[in-house]
Amino acid sequence: MTSLQQLPKHLAVIMDGNGRWAQKRLLPRLVGHKKGVDSIRTIVECCVKLNIPYLTLFAFSSENWHRPAKEVSGIISLMADALAIEVQKLHQENIRLNVTLQQSIAVAQKLTMHNTKLIVNLAINYGGRWDLTQAIKKIIKTVVNNKLDLENINEAVIKANLSLGDLPDVDLLIRTSGVFRLSNFLLWELAYAELYFTDVLWPDFTLDELQRGLDFYAQQERIFGKTREQLASKIRK
Ligand code: FPP
Repeated sequence: MTSLQQLPKHLAVIMDGNGRWAQKRLLPRLVGHKKGVDSIRTIVECCVKLNIPYLTLFAFSSENWHRPAKEVSGIISLMADALAIEVQKLHQENIRLNVTLQQSIAVAQKLTMHNTKLIVNLAINYGGRWDLTQAIKKIIKTVVNNKLDLENINEAVIKANLSLGDLPDVDLLIRTSGVFRLSNFLLWELAYAELYFTDVLWPDFTLDELQRGLDFYAQQERIFGKTREQLASKIRK
């Protein structure tokens, strides 16, 4: 990786395959989730090194609540434990953590709220359709209260009301475990993202795997629906 290589500003990851990783080894699924936390550490450290400023991790979807109760409570306590252990380190590294859920998580968020090196968003109990729905409700309320005209609703207004409203759109999405779906993740923010799918299971996701995803991203020509000539003339101006 050279510093001249095009890097994503906002990297999003669907961390998939923890369960299969464990089952392949005849271990309980929770062991796979535990190993998955190591992969999170790897990717966070790499974002810091490469100056990637925003990282959004799909940690637990609203649909994941339908898993067996034991797995759900196991994942939640794993997250709380991992945060309790890691939060001081994140803070020392000037990393800001954004999450919603549980007290220990709220504490981690408060401690790191002024950090600027990297913003890590943990999407927990998240669903893209839910996020759009709550944004629409907020906007309608503003209109009903005469604080916004219907004509003034535009893409910027919608974006501002989403959970990640103050962050740039995602540039690169990585999904592990050979699954080619968005699974209701960041539906609005992924509109122009480059999509990178790998067969590697999340607990096996290493620095080399991340490098492959970043190399793929660096090779993409990002034209956002425009012509190459239009983009070139914008750069010249
Ligand atoms: C997907 O694998 C993974 C999850 C649903 C949970 C991911 C959670 C963690 C790695 C722990 C997060 C901890 C912190 C601190 C954020 P899967 O179970 O769907 O795998 P499978 O498709 O092989 O069954």
